[in-house]
Amino acid sequence: MPRQRRRAGASNPVCFLATGAEFASKNTLRTAAAGGVVLITSSMRTISIKVDGRLHTVEVDPSTPLLFVLSDELGLRGPKFGCGIAQCGACTVIIGGRAVRSCVLPIGSMKEEDEVTTLEGLGTPEKPHPLQQSFINEGASQCGFCLSGVILTAKAVLDENPKASDEEIRQALGGVLCRCFTHTRMLRAIRKYADERRA
Ligand code: FES
Ligand code: FES
Repeated sequence: MPRQRRRAGASNPVCFLATGAEFASKNTLRTAAAGGVVLITSSMRTISIKVDGRLHTVEVDPSTPLLFVLSDELGLRGPKFGCGIAQCGACTVIIGGRAVRSCVLPIGSMKEEDEVTTLEGLGTPEKPHPLQQSFINEGASQCGFCLSGVILTAKAVLDENPKASDEEIRQALGGVLCRCFTHTRMLRAIRKYADERRA
């Protein structure tokens, strides 16, 4: 029997249908009466995935983008659906020390040893990661929609090269969009974090 699932995290069904072309072509999508989207697929698989230090087992089509699994199956709200085509960075997570755009990563293509870190996994409201704390100190966000991309990309860059220059940080963040134009404060927060880390 085919399984049915509602993509609760795909908050904009039109956007989801328009940008998830490859995913959609392998599955049947219908507009639900409630305004969401119903996915009907006969190729579900049980997949284990380690996210923020915890092992999860999900039953999904292997072509499902990692972002949908994180939001719909695991209820995480750090990674966001922005463009759905690897252009904005809102869905960024860290895998193997690299900043990765989860909207275009089919969960079935991940390796068993892959560990995912999301913005939620970095710190907690009570004990933010020092980079998150630096953003708080500098007031370096407005709506916060882009923060997974900005913070996790900056973290991946500085983990790899703690001495990264302003120019190198700017280049790494070049493809991460912030529609609130908070760039100056963000760069200041990242610089302060990097300098304090090395002190
Ligand atoms: S939502 Fe993934 S890069 Fe825009
Ligand atoms: S703070 Fe709003 S998109 Fe960056």
